[in-house]
Parts: sequence; structure tokens; C-alpha cells
Amino acid sequence: MADQPDGSRSVGIAVNGATGRMGYRQHLLRSLLAIREQGGLARPDGTVLWPEPVLVGRSEATLAGIAHRHGLADWTTDLAAALARPDVQVYFDAQVTAAREPAVRAAIEAGKHIYTEKPVAATLAGAVGLARAADAAGVVHGVVQDKLFLPGLRKLARLVDAGFFGRILSVRGEFGYWVFEGDWQPAQRPSWNYRAADGGGIVMDMFPHWHYLLERLFGRVTAVTAHATTHLPERVDEQGRRYPATADDAAYAIFELAGGIVAQINSSWAVRVHRDELVEFQVDGTEGSAVAGLRECRVQHRATTPRPVWNPDLPETGKFRSQWQPVPDNQDFDNGFKLQWEQFLGQVAAGEPYPLDLWAGARGVQLAELGLQSARQGRRLEVPAL
Ligand SMILES: NC(=O)c1ccc[n+]([C@@H]2O[C@H](COP(=O)([O-])OP(=O)(O)OC[C@H]3O[C@@H](n4cnc5c(N)ncnc54)[C@H](O)[C@@H]3O)[C@@H](O)[C@H]2O)c1
Repeated sequence: MADQPDGSRSVGIAVNGATGRMGYRQHLLRSLLAIREQGGLARPDGTVLWPEPVLVGRSEATLAGIAHRHGLADWTTDLAAALARPDVQVYFDAQVTAAREPAVRAAIEAGKHIYTEKPVAATLAGAVGLARAADAAGVVHGVVQDKLFLPGLRKLARLVDAGFFGRILSVRGEFGYWVFEGDWQPAQRPSWNYRAADGGGIVMDMFPHWHYLLERLFGRVTAVTAHATTHLPERVDEQGRRYPATADDAAYAIFELAGGIVAQINSSWAVRVHRDELVEFQVDGTEGSAVAGLRECRVQHRATTPRPVWNPDLPETGKFRSQWQPVPDNQDFDNGFKLQWEQFLGQVAAGEPYPLDLWAGARGVQLAELGLQSARQGRRLEVPAL
């Protein structure tokens, strides 16, 4: 990190995949540039960290366009050259999943601190290899776990930490929405997500998220039983060409957690939304229950639980949804990606390990890999400790 005349310390960050959906919008705009707009990241010791992004990608024209739009001067299509620069301390990867492992490996070999999107690699062996290499190189490493930083799930974590639920019994998660096939309306997700050879598939995409949420909120995942399928076998890509969708677009999974908690999570890009949010988790415990989404969280305590009686002969008079109470925000919630960037950069500045590290990322890949294996073999699989 270089000390500047104004007292701030600049942190050079190679942002690879800066042109992508996540790389551009969430990581560059909403995080790194937002930190600059707020005047940098103030550290407890009084120093101010100033992120200096170096945009890395494949298309000169697209990179130049982004750089120009946001007043940035530093961009390159040559990853090796970016990694050779001594003023670049951090390598960040938001490329397509299939391109990640070799790029992160090269960055570790160049001695850079590593921050990366999930899944950290396409295979468990690859993910563990990266975690080991990063430890051996002594660099700080981290993986994006953005859902932990969202208001609804932070309120849920608050309830867990306060012991609101008593003994937690079960978790039900419902995630998904209709991703258009791409013919009469454009698809809302890039086509590589639907091709297995390009690292696509909803299990590899979403199980890493479910893993860190379950692990942080409820306990270690000890076993998985999954059914994965491809509901829509053909889609239309960005160029208007039909292609076979070879990756799974829906997964129906049961995760067993330490302490006997059962989590059942549906993930689908072929479902229409009849929910308040695109993902919702219901947690039931002996003392109370909660339903949390990305932003909202509602609770029902044991003492306010109604007493429904099953009688199909009578119309339902109870308004079940109105019998829940919102959990108040009690604080301002900044963008989750930005909050995690601030945590990670703080650890880099302090030279301290970051707890949401490549090992945590590898455990997410492990769960995805076991989920796919469970679906192929039609059986329950235990999750060995890494
Ligand atoms: N944390 C989250 O909530 C979240 C959400 C969506 C995606 N992701 C992850 O972020 C990563 C990027 O996803 P995205 O939706 O931004 O994808 P995207 O297709 O919009 O962007 C992909 C980026 O990778 C680059 N790239 C490098 N090699 C490529 C290749 N061979 N083919 C195509 N593009 C290539 C592209 O130029 C682009 O910058 C994925 O690993 C995905 O799993 C995370």
C-alpha cells in the first residue's frame, strides 16, 4: 500500500471481470467506487484507504468505455501485466466461474491478496488447491458471502444470536424466479449459466450461498440429499441462437445440520414468484418462528401463535400473514457487497486473516459437488469435514 501526500493509503486492486453483471454493478460501482465517493475507507487507526481499481477484462472497447464513464484511467486486457505491477496488492475475480481457478492461482503466485466471487472454483479439488496455495503464500484471502450482509438476513442473524427461536427445528428456503428462455423476451441471466461446460447450473451457483448462510446461522452442514433437474432443455443465447441447456436449472434439496436441524431449500430458475421476495427462509423453533427475505424479516412468538384447526368444510377465516410482526431495522443498512469489501480491505490493511476465506469458499463448492453427486446417484451423502 502506498502512502499518499494527503495521508491516505492507496490500495491497488486488479478487478477481473469488471465488465460482467456482478463485477461492474455490485463490485465496481456499488462497492469500490462508492467507497471512493464517501472519501475512502476510514480505519480505526486514523488512516484512510483509497481503492485504486485496475480494470481487467477481454474487450478493450468495453473496458475503455467503463473507465471513461467513471473517470478511471487504469485498465488492461493483459492479466499477467496487471499481476506484475507492484502497486497492485489485491486481485479480485468476478469472471465466469470456469475462468476463475487459473487466474486466482496466477494471482497467488504473484503474491497478491485474493478476494473472489463464489464459487471459488468449479471443483472441490481446485478450491482446496487454491486455499492451500493462498495459505502457503501468506496472503490474505476472502470469498464473497454477500447474503450475510443483507438486511433481512442480518435481522434473522440477530434473532438467532438473541436466542429468539429456543431450539431451532427446521429451515425452509424458497429461492427462484422465471428466467426467460430468451426467444420472445431476453433472458435476465447470461447464457453460460445454462451450459454445464461453461460452469453453469443452479447447484454450483446457489449451494455455495446456502452453505455459508446455513453454517453461519444454524450450524455445520452434515449431510445432503438433492434432486437436480433441467426443466427447460433449450434456451436462446445473447446472439439469438438456440442452444441445448445442459446445466441444471432447478434443485430440490434437504440439508441436515449439526444438532439435528433440517433445512430444505428449493432453488429454481423455472418457477413463478408468489412470495414477497425472490428468496425467503422460514425458521421454526420451539419458542418462535421467523420468515426472512433479502430485506424484510417477520416473527411469530410462541405466545402469539394462533391455533388453526383443520376443517376443509369451512372457509378459512384466519389471515395467517397478518399474524406476524416485522423485525425493525434499528440501523441503516448499506450495500452488502460494499460492507464486505470494507471488511476485507480492513483485514488486508491490518495484515490479518479474513475469516470468510477460501476455505469457507471451498466448503461451499464441496456442498455443491456433493449435491450434484447425490442427485446423480439418487442417494443421501454425508459431508466430510474438510
Ligand atoms: N454473489 C452473488 O450474488 C453472485 C450473483 C451472480 C453471479 N455471481 C458469480 O459471479 C461470477 C460472474 O457472474 P455474472 O453473472 O456477473 O456473469 P457475466 O457473464 O455477466 O460476467 C462474466 C465476466 O467474466 C468475463 N469472462 C472471462 N472469461 C470469459 C469467458 N470465457 N466467457 C464469458 N465471459 C468471460 C466477462 O468478460 C465478464 O466480465 C460467477 O462466478 C457467478 O457465480 C455471484
